[in-house]
Amino acid sequence: MSLQWTRGTIVSRREWYDGLFTLRVEALDVLPFEPGQFLQLGLPLGDKHVHRPYSVASPHGSCLEFFIVLVPDGELTPHLYRLSVGDQIDVSDKPAGRFTLSHGPLGSTLWLIATGTGLAPYIAMLRSGQVWKQYERVVLVHGVRYGNDLAYREELEGFQDRNPSRFAYIPTTSRDDHFHALTGRISTLLDSGELEDRAGERFEAERSGVMLCGNPAMLDEMEQLLIARGLTRHRSKSPGQIVVERYW
Ligand SMILES: Cc1cc2nc3c(=O)[nH]c(=O)nc-3n(C[C@H](O)[C@H](O)[C@H](O)COP(=O)(O)OP(=O)(O)OC[C@H]3O[C@@H](n4cnc5c(N)ncnc54)[C@H](O)[C@@H]3O)c2cc1C
Ligand SMILES: NC(=O)c1ccc[n+]([C@@H]2O[C@H](COP(=O)([O-])OP(=O)(O)OC[C@H]3O[C@@H](n4cnc5c(N)ncnc54)[C@H](OP(=O)(O)O)[C@@H]3O)[C@@H](O)[C@H]2O)c1
Repeated sequence: MSLQWTRGTIVSRREWYDGLFTLRVEALDVLPFEPGQFLQLGLPLGDKHVHRPYSVASPHGSCLEFFIVLVPDGELTPHLYRLSVGDQIDVSDKPAGRFTLSHGPLGSTLWLIATGTGLAPYIAMLRSGQVWKQYERVVLVHGVRYGNDLAYREELEGFQDRNPSRFAYIPTTSRDDHFHALTGRISTLLDSGELEDRAGERFEAERSGVMLCGNPAMLDEMEQLLIARGLTRHRSKSPGQIVVERYW
């Protein structure tokens, strides 16, 4: 099915750190979507229209937030990176994807695990009220290379300060030591037990739902480690604990 485009206008741009940025786009004709779904962003480049999927980092509303990393030799992101306030962008009008809470895993604790910009769908889920109605506790793990890449840190610490018994934010950095973060890859920290120690609970089939988003190598490694703990992939016909979104 061909994509239908609606006009968006950049209303704000924030660069968290070199090459890591958030665009807020006003696009009035986008159909309602659930936190965790994605839209396509596109630009006419030469004689082509180049577009890619992006998770929306905000709940449905007239303003859409996108958290993006510059892939230096990528086809689209160098152009998205150069956009500034007032510029136009094409936005697909129909949301897509099943990486949502309504297709989410069972369990009383929801683990939201991301590398890099894989954080985007979780920001939308946390800002919407739905996640708190569905789960008793939420543990968000954000794995990045360097402390400077911990975008949205203040907002996430704010959720934790307001509700410490129901929300834990666990940043991890793999290439430096950062004051707030565990040091190492998420998968290494799961293997060593440090991740569960910081969260104050274990991955258990009876109580843990897990959403994984971002780098595909992380998704594969984490899924194998969780399967070894007795968790299984969640499917509508055979409920389990693990739900995955692959970015590439
Ligand atoms: C469902 C879905 C949702 C997505 N949501 C987001 C999002 O919210 N934010 C976002 O930045 N990207 C997101 N992506 C990735 C995005 O669609 C593009 O692939 C990415 O922006 C690169 O586009 P490009 O044209 O510049 O690079 P391309 O020329 O298409 O090069 C692709 C290569 O870039 C690298 N790459 C792609 N995405 C990322 C990434 N996010 N982080 C690190 N390396 C990457 C990989 O090596 C990949 O092979 C999503 C992808 C999918 C499938
Ligand atoms: N500020 C930025 O983040 C930034 C800015 C500009 C451009 N870029 C470019 O964007 C691209 C992606 O960078 P990124 O840092 O966002 O994403 P990334 O390469 O996916 O790294 C994010 C995190 O995932 C970890 N990881 C990788 N493989 C894993 C695995 N198998 N299991 C568990 N964890 C794993 C990384 O650890 P390791 O450190 O061990 O790899 C890192 O902690 C790169 O081309 C980069 O040069 C990034």
